[in-house]
Amino acid sequence: MCGIVGYIGSRDAKPILINGLKKLEYRGYDSAGIAIYEDGEIQVRKTVGRLTNLEELIEKNPVKGTLAIGHTRWATHGSPSDVNSHPHVDGKSEFVVVHNGIIENFLEIKEELIEKGATFVSETDTEVIAHLLSHLYDGDLVTTVQKAVAKMKGAYALGIIYKNEPEKMIAVRLASPLIIGIGEKENYIASDIPALIEHTRDIYILNDGEMAVITADNVQLMTTDGKLIERDVFHVEWDVETAEKDGFDHFMLKEIYEQPRAYRETISNRINHQLNTVDLSQEINLTEDYIKSIDKIHIVACGTAYHAGLVGKYVIEQLTRIPVEVDVASEYRYRNPIITPNTLVMVISQSGETADTLAALRESQRNGAKVLAITNVNGSSVSREADEVLLTHAGPEIAVASTKAYTSQLVAIYLFGLYLSQVRETHEDAAIAKYIQAIKELPAQAEKLLEFAPIIKQFAERFAKHEDLFFIGRSLDFAVSLEGSLKLKEISYIHSEAYPAGELKHGTLALITDGIPVIALATQEDIYEKMVSNIIEVKARNAYVLGIALEGDTELAKSVDEVITIPKTLPLLTPALSVIPLQLLAYYAALARGNDVDKPRNLAKSVTVE
Ligand code: F6R
Repeated sequence: MCGIVGYIGSRDAKPILINGLKKLEYRGYDSAGIAIYEDGEIQVRKTVGRLTNLEELIEKNPVKGTLAIGHTRWATHGSPSDVNSHPHVDGKSEFVVVHNGIIENFLEIKEELIEKGATFVSETDTEVIAHLLSHLYDGDLVTTVQKAVAKMKGAYALGIIYKNEPEKMIAVRLASPLIIGIGEKENYIASDIPALIEHTRDIYILNDGEMAVITADNVQLMTTDGKLIERDVFHVEWDVETAEKDGFDHFMLKEIYEQPRAYRETISNRINHQLNTVDLSQEINLTEDYIKSIDKIHIVACGTAYHAGLVGKYVIEQLTRIPVEVDVASEYRYRNPIITPNTLVMVISQSGETADTLAALRESQRNGAKVLAITNVNGSSVSREADEVLLTHAGPEIAVASTKAYTSQLVAIYLFGLYLSQVRETHEDAAIAKYIQAIKELPAQAEKLLEFAPIIKQFAERFAKHEDLFFIGRSLDFAVSLEGSLKLKEISYIHSEAYPAGELKHGTLALITDGIPVIALATQEDIYEKMVSNIIEVKARNAYVLGIALEGDTELAKSVDEVITIPKTLPLLTPALSVIPLQLLAYYAALARGNDVDKPRNLAKSVTVE
């Protein structure tokens, strides 16, 4: 996820771009850059680090012009560095591109262009676009862009300028957001409304497969195969603060709704659709011999990431039969864990900066283990120090309560588990293909599940009046219960506990009294009947039970007070869906109690102290 801004008009573009990029920093901030047309040349200023670094760079080496594109980056292909920062140019600095998204077939195109003499300076997929435009140029920027886009697979929002046609700027969109702001003899492009709202409230929203040819006094919309489009102008009514949240009341809710997209981006580029296999070989460099030699995996993380690790234990053990231990990072490093050269340590961290997780990583390496990190932030300490990195592509997470990072971690774990299974040949090809098919269905299933938000809100408002609440589940449902309970505690401040449903009667059942809310997850078919027995035990103590079941389950309703169903998927994949109603439940309960949802008391987003 990255942010794009562009301007064409008669004012100095630089402050417009810098202010716009500031509003988009939530989309990524590991590097930034601008390209400005000045005196017949395109000048690029770009640098690793926050926008302030870019501002300093421009101050030292000023530029001025009325046509410009800019970018704030959240690294995917290629680490955060000056050279990988956007804008990217072709060899002659004539075609300049900013890009948000991933070009899935960039390696293929890059090889073709290298054969034809192109020289690349960065590791990014975006640089390929600039060279492709140069290679295909037919005397007209618009048709050239159309030809280039026809060759590209993946997701992209693009801003393009060309030195020899400086009266226009091109915007293109496929599966990454892009809008066009309409001004008085000036126009804009941006990834999101907040970047433009101080200049205009009139916008066109580009749809997938569409582009715009933008001059200072005209915007022509068309499909990427050239059919002209007429569209009504969309007038933005939001205030600036609402605009940053994309119209959502809180970042947490926005991030909950971003989960389908986070799934798509985390899956993207990692599946070989022809062979129906997972391919992580471009990203992680674990040899077949090493993978076959792993005899134990330790997963180490904190908080929500630890809960993703608990799901990971079930997933990896089922898929590979490698024994997996899961530890809270602050405990792991002090328990003198048994690590051998055949132990793979997996650390999971959204921020990649959590002090305990980082310390556990270092301790593991000191003890001779290889460390694989699953992290959301490329360029973070964890990503730099781990031996291998598998990125989650959830995009920046702003709300303190983690939602889309957790579910993206689950997807990364599924993909990694399947990859290990392929190499160790623990499953038939057909079984792997079935998992891959089910993983591909997760984004659409998550979208469907989010439609139940108004019903979940009603439950949450009822639960919000209580001071104690219980979550119960078995196997994977227990792992998800822990995450549901943490979410509820941290933002609603309701005391809650998650229990393995079969364990309740060994003590905690004493706390189940008249009307106490119990959220019972019953999505695991192999232990379904046992779970129903445990639900009956709490119902017998007059608990008020909300069941979470699989679509098509008509039985559970007989034993509980209310049921929410989740779309049917393979048992190992249910956590990626069953957690969503729990996130919404926590959100709406916190809202009903009037809490500061995005910034709960006593907490911080990144815990860089032990
Ligand atoms: C809870 C939450 C925290 C983090 C934990 C680890 O919603 O966000 O429990 O999961 O602090 O943070 P990372 O993943 O950045 O290492």
